[in-house]
Amino acid sequence: MSLFRCPLCAAPLERAAGAYRCPGGHSFDIAREGYVHLLPPNQKHSALPGDDREMVLARREFLSGGYYRPLLNTLCSRILALSGETPALLDAGCGEGWYTAGVAQALRAAGRRPQIAGTDISKFALRTAARREKGAEFAVASSYRLPLADGGVDVLLNCFSPLA
Ligand SMILES: C[S@@+](CC[C@H](N)C(=O)[O-])C[C@H]1O[C@@H](n2cnc3c(N)ncnc32)[C@H](O)[C@@H]1O
Ligand SMILES: [Zn+2]
Repeated sequence: MSLFRCPLCAAPLERAAGAYRCPGGHSFDIAREGYVHLLPPNQKHSALPGDDREMVLARREFLSGGYYRPLLNTLCSRILALSGETPALLDAGCGEGWYTAGVAQALRAAGRRPQIAGTDISKFALRTAARREKGAEFAVASSYRLPLADGGVDVLLNCFSPLA
C-alpha cells in the first residue's frame, strides 16, 4: 500500500505495475523514472510548476559537494531519536531527493524499516529523486494540498521548501 491518497477522491492508493489505483477507479501512471503525477489540473497554476531543469541540476551539483552534510546529519539524528521501528516519513518539497535519500539511508543503517515518500511540484526534481532513491515513492504534488491521509505519516520533513 502507498502512503499516498487519491488526489480526486482521497481513497487509499495501491501501487501496481505501471500505475497507482484507487478503489474508485482513478488511475495514475508511473513515469519511466518511477514517480507518479498526483497534481490535479486545477491545482497546477503554470505549465511547468516548481524548479526547472537547470535549477535542479545546479542544486544537485552543489549538494554533492557535501556543504549541507552537517544539516543532514543533524536531521537524521533528530529523526532517529523521535521515530520508532517502522516510521512513515514524507519529505515535502523534496527537490531532487538528496535529504530524502540521506534520511532513508540513516534509518535503514540503524535497523529501522521506514516507509518513505517524497513530493515536489517539479517533475524535473522528481526525475532525479526517483532515480536516486529506489526505496521510496515519489509524487508530483503541491505541499498546499498533500495527497495524504490525516495523520498518514509520523515524520514530515521540509527542507527549504514552501509548506502550508
Ligand atoms: C529550495 S528547493 C529545496 C529542495 C530540497 N528540499 C532541498 O533542500 O534540496 C524548493 C523546492 O520546492 C519545490 N516547490 C515549490 N513550490 C512548491 C509547492 N507549492 N509544492 C511542492 N513543492 C514546491 C520546488 O520545485 C523545489 O524543488
Ligand atoms: Zn480516487
